[in-house]
Amino acid sequence: MRVFINEIGQHADQEVTIQGWLSDKSGKGKLQFLKLRDGTGFIQGTVFVSDVSEETFELAKRLPQECSLEVTGIVRADARAPSGFEISVREIKVVALPTEEYPITPKEHGTEFLLDHRHLHLRHRKPWAALRVRDTIKAAINDFFHSRGFIQFDSPFFMPTAVEGTTNLFEISLFDEEKAYLSQSGQLYAEAGAMAHGKVYTFGPTFRAEKSKTRRHLLEFWMIEPEVAYNDWQDNMRLQEDFVSYLVGRALEERKTELEMLERDVSKLEPSAAGNFPRISYTDAIDLIAKAIAAGNLPENVPADTQPVVWGDDFGAPHETIVGAHFDRPVMIHSYPAAIKAFYMQPQAHDPRLAACNDMIAPEGYGEIIGGSERIHDYDLLKKRILEHELPLEPFDWYLDLRKYGSVPHSGFGLGLERTVAWICGVPHLREVIPFPRMLTRMKP
Ligand code: 4AD
Ligand code: MG
Repeated sequence: MRVFINEIGQHADQEVTIQGWLSDKSGKGKLQFLKLRDGTGFIQGTVFVSDVSEETFELAKRLPQECSLEVTGIVRADARAPSGFEISVREIKVVALPTEEYPITPKEHGTEFLLDHRHLHLRHRKPWAALRVRDTIKAAINDFFHSRGFIQFDSPFFMPTAVEGTTNLFEISLFDEEKAYLSQSGQLYAEAGAMAHGKVYTFGPTFRAEKSKTRRHLLEFWMIEPEVAYNDWQDNMRLQEDFVSYLVGRALEERKTELEMLERDVSKLEPSAAGNFPRISYTDAIDLIAKAIAAGNLPENVPADTQPVVWGDDFGAPHETIVGAHFDRPVMIHSYPAAIKAFYMQPQAHDPRLAACNDMIAPEGYGEIIGGSERIHDYDLLKKRILEHELPLEPFDWYLDLRKYGSVPHSGFGLGLERTVAWICGVPHLREVIPFPRMLTRMKP
């Protein structure tokens, strides 16, 4: 009977066939250990000389890494095996032998080498585990919003204008020399969606021409952008907290094995699944940073010469890391100066110098995973802000229309999928959690 490795526990002591590949092999003398994988998991097949024919034993000794094969054997419970089971092999059928030696050997390889061979490296344990966590997070995102009555709303990827500033826009030429831009954010379209459906979210690739090489930036990443009519910025923070704690909870529930393969210390994630995320104002965060610097109490990865923030300046990555390290779960920093935030953000009622906005900073140095705000719903104010930001009015005429016809307060946010998955997996670089990363120095494969 053909079975999958992730269901092997239901077939203890039965004879089964696995269709897969050989990821590694060891053994000598009368025993050969085949490390098998079939896409759903990894398991060891033990070939004992007296259990198989002479030809099968000779074949087992010669099998090369990454040959595809069908292995038939008896499922045995084995407490030492990571999955709790192994296969006592009876027969082996080779499907295809590699035509050349497989390039990724069990020895250590450099990062660039592995990225050059990403199409093959995806088969190995850690990339395999990380992309399965990613898949669970994606499913959980859709479940979360659908269970709360949101509909998924698709925004276009070709855009007539910038949303998040002009410094990292990808410009493309269309027909007749007309220009367009790759989408930096689906938010403006999600706002139109929210006026039609009340609660919507976008979920798609997003493009930013990030010219610096950092572990937190990709040129192409996936963003989830909910937008809700009649939500103010406080409602918006509650939604973010429910959302992110739900995602962490699902990963802990469904991807225990994968998180173990990634050597993730899950005890560090558990508080985040419980909700109750702290909230701190921009001004108080500046204080917290200044005190940490004065006390020399800096988390690792923060340069010793990090300077305090002057009120009105934006936070750098080290500042976010200092604030993030102060808490055991994500922290929401709110009420930034409007001057350093996007043109569409609603000013605070009590102090219009401040924006009704927040970022969410993940713990353990993972930085900003969410940016969100209440949106300006007053026509004149929005028009004024567009002009102040030296943006052309014409491409925004439809966006201004949303403020002409039954405008209401509304809020939303954008969650970076790769930042979130990297944090949950505990991997240092975003490139580990997307199948084929696109970065300043990487377009291939
Ligand atoms: O803070 P950002 O720029 O917010 C927006 O785009 C808003 N329009 C969202 C909204 O309110 N609907 O980006 C949102 C998130 C960041 O917090 C970060 O997690 C992620 O997108 N992000 C990136 N992830 C990977 N690579 C990059 N270059 C990223 N830039 C932003
Ligand atoms: Mg941001």
